[in-house]
Order: sequence, then structure tokens, then C-alpha cells
Amino acid sequence: MLIRTKNRSDVRSSEITSETVYQDRRRFLKKGGQFALAGLGLTLVGCSDDLTQTIAAKNTPASTDVNIPQFNAPQWLQQKVAAHTKSQFLTEDALTPYPTVAGYNNFYEFGYGKQDPAEHAKDLITDPWSVIVEGAVEKPGTYTLEDILKPHDLEERIYRLRCVEAWSMVVPWVGYSLANMLKRFQPTSKAKYVEFHTLYDPEQMPGQRSRLSSIEYPYVEGLRIDEAINPLTFMAVGLYGKTLPPQNGAPLRLVVPWKYGFKSIKSIVRIRFTETIPRTTWVKSGPSEYGFFANVNPNVDHPRWSQAMERRLPDTLWEPNRIETRMFNGYEEEVAHLYSGMDLSKYY
Ligand code: MTE
Repeated sequence: MLIRTKNRSDVRSSEITSETVYQDRRRFLKKGGQFALAGLGLTLVGCSDDLTQTIAAKNTPASTDVNIPQFNAPQWLQQKVAAHTKSQFLTEDALTPYPTVAGYNNFYEFGYGKQDPAEHAKDLITDPWSVIVEGAVEKPGTYTLEDILKPHDLEERIYRLRCVEAWSMVVPWVGYSLANMLKRFQPTSKAKYVEFHTLYDPEQMPGQRSRLSSIEYPYVEGLRIDEAINPLTFMAVGLYGKTLPPQNGAPLRLVVPWKYGFKSIKSIVRIRFTETIPRTTWVKSGPSEYGFFANVNPNVDHPRWSQAMERRLPDTLWEPNRIETRMFNGYEEEVAHLYSGMDLSKYY
């Protein structure tokens, strides 16, 4: 998503027993129905892309027993993630294979190419890790990751992730509801929004050192408080049953499945409760292209490309797996009420 200036799932429960079975699985709505309209023609979207990884992933049978690494996560976190339970948050869509989820990323702090994050983030130090909580809260402070996670049991949720660039994935995240995290800090009545910041560490993050960057760091994202406490909003610490790979936002990353992927901020070190709307990274970078709400909406195009369709990864140039984009990424029933009366072409 480079900008122009420079340069309820009503689903059955899953019984995930092994990584092989996990990756092989395809889920369908019990109530039957609607589905992926693969192969529909669409003009290529106007965003940068790198298909090599998706070709590689496409050629890797989903049933291949992929060895999923733990990266640099501490032992206690590995155990906590491994002890997750399943949840009712599932989807009818097939999972995106692990090599694509962990090999085709946007994490501009580690470069603009889709494979740069996997290459450059692998040594990111995520232990020790702490999060500053500030603003309109009764319990501000600096919390270690262990403090933050200790009281919570983790669960798996399978969500669709739709990038504003018009590609999408289906990811089995491990984590817990953001509402449960936030309520521990006791937000006051002045907390109308919540703002998140990614780590700022130019020594570890080459993208933050670049003078050519059109992005102002640290990467900042935010939600209205009612969005933040919606039951779908999730704080992830793992995927595919293991701790998060650094390129996917280790050790702590937001997942807001009805919004474009850029809202799902990675490697969070600061949470601020505010009375006014946060100045978020992409709104600062290109306000005519990226909005604060960023709800997935097939009826409101990006100024440079259509949002009506998406490429469900993995795909290839020769086999573009195009499907129709769904309103609120298919989570309309759960979240449409949050925006009633709002003109979504104005509040994009
Ligand atoms: N968070 C930070 N800190 N930096 C980023 O560049 N990219 C966003 C989002 N979170 C980004 C980020 C975008 S554009 C997308 S689509 C998702 O991360 C991609 O998440 P994934 O790499 O886990 O698929």
C-alpha cells in the first residue's frame, strides 16, 4: 500500500490435532451456501506486489508437514500459546497455508517487499517486552508482556484478513479478546478512542532508518472505543498454534477482521486511551487514500483501484484466485451496527 506522494460465523467447531491436519482442513458452512467465486476476471490492482512467494506457497501442498518455528519467544509464552483452546470464531473458508501467512507480509519497518519482513525481522528481540499504558485510564503504567497475558486464557480464532491492496488470507490466530485486555486498565469516561504504537527501534528495523520512507514512524493505529471492545477485536500472540513469527507482529499484534489489514498493527509497545481521534500512520501519509475507519467495503473503491474483488492467497499470475470482497469482510452481522447512520463513503 505505497502511497502516491513518494515514489458469526455459524460454523462447526474445529478439531485441530496436528499441524498436518490443521493445514489440510477446509471448512464449510453447515447451513451451506455462499461461496468463493474463483477465477473471475479483474484488472490487476495498482499496488506493488511480489508473486514469487505465493507461487512457492501454491506449489507447497497444504498437507505438507511444515515445521513451524517458535522464533525468539520465551518458554513461558510458547507454553501458554500451546495451551490455547478452540473458539467458536471460525470461518467456512480454507486456511491459508503457513508458508504464505509467514512469508508474504506487510511490515514496512522491515522493508517494502513482501518477503522482506520474513528475512529482516527474524532476529527481532521480543523478550523482554513491555507495553506502556497511558492516557484516560485508572491503571496506567509499564506492563511486562507476562503481566499483560498472565490472567488470560488464550483461544484460537480463524479470521479472514483483507489487505487494502486487494489480497486476502485466512489465518488461525491465537490470542484473546482486546476487550478483556483493555478493561484491566480501567479506562475512564474520557476514553473515546484507543491508540496503539509499534516499537520504534531503527537499529533493529531498517525501514525506520530509511531517509526515503514516506511513512512516519512509529507506526500508529487506533480504534474507536466501541470498535475496540467489540467481541471480534482480538489481540494475537500466536498463529497456527505457535507464537507469532516476528514478521507477523511478534510478540503482540492487533487483529481487526472487518477492517483493512493496515489497522491490525504489529509489535505493539504502547496503548494510549484518548478523548480525540488518533492521528494514524496511513491517514497522515495519504488521507485521500486511507481513512481512520478503513472498514472493508466492496462499494467504496480506493482512488487507484477497485475494492470489489480480492485475490485469496496463495495464487499465481496464471491462476489468480479472485473472489468477491464481502461487506465488512463478511462480518457484517457482528459489526454493521457500529456504523449505523454513518456515510461509509465519507468515513472510509
Ligand atoms: N504494522 C506495522 N507496525 N507495520 C506495518 O507495515 N502493515 C499492515 C499491518 N500491520 C503493518 C502493520 C498491513 S498493510 C497489513 S495488510 C497487515 O499488517 C499484514 O499483516 P500480515 O503480514 O501478518 O499478513
